Amino acid sequence: MAINIQLIKSSGAAVKDLGVPVAAYFYNYMFTHYPEVRKMFPGDMTEQRIRLFNSVILIATNIDTMEVLVPYLKELGTGHIKYDTRPEHYAIVGKSLLNTLKHFLGAAWTHEMAESWIEAYNLAASVCIEAAYEAMTPSRFIPVSIDDVPAAV
Ligand code: HEM
Repeated sequence: MAINIQLIKSSGAAVKDLGVPVAAYFYNYMFTHYPEVRKMFPGDMTEQRIRLFNSVILIATNIDTMEVLVPYLKELGTGHIKYDTRPEHYAIVGKSLLNTLKHFLGAAWTHEMAESWIEAYNLAASVCIEAAYEAMTPSRFIPVSIDDVPAAV
């Protein structure tokens, strides 16, 4: 099924109004259900909650603006290499995000909304993962050569 743009946007706006507690719930959910990723994050999550919250809102707001969304996601994906983020982690984040949205949207959370968010998240995660893969491809390695070293005297 296709992504229902309006559903993503309206639920994104509803979540935006709820504020950073949404991100607090998300991390609490993720660290409870997937404790193995806790060590990847800092002890104090205050800043990270705000960053993640703003990022999810940005993605939802621009879900129909590919020229903004795709470069943003590519940078997000390559930026996550330094955190040692692996493809399997994206499934953990996705499940935690979906459960968080369901929790906060309550009666407004419908099957169609769930399907749309699943599709949107899977697409966003794929762009991040592909960009990280591309950035790490061995073909980008240009072997060091004698030209890289000053001439011997
Ligand atoms: C589409 C999914 C994701 C979104 C929207 C997202 C968003 C963000 C944002 C906006 C930041 C801060 C800025 C930056 O460094 O880029 C960040 C940092 C971080 N993310 Fe993600 N992220 C996602 C997936 C993941 C996954 C799958 C993991 C691994 C479990 C992860 C782990 C981290 C870590 C460890 C940091 C750094 C925290 C710190 O040291 O302050 N993220 N993420």
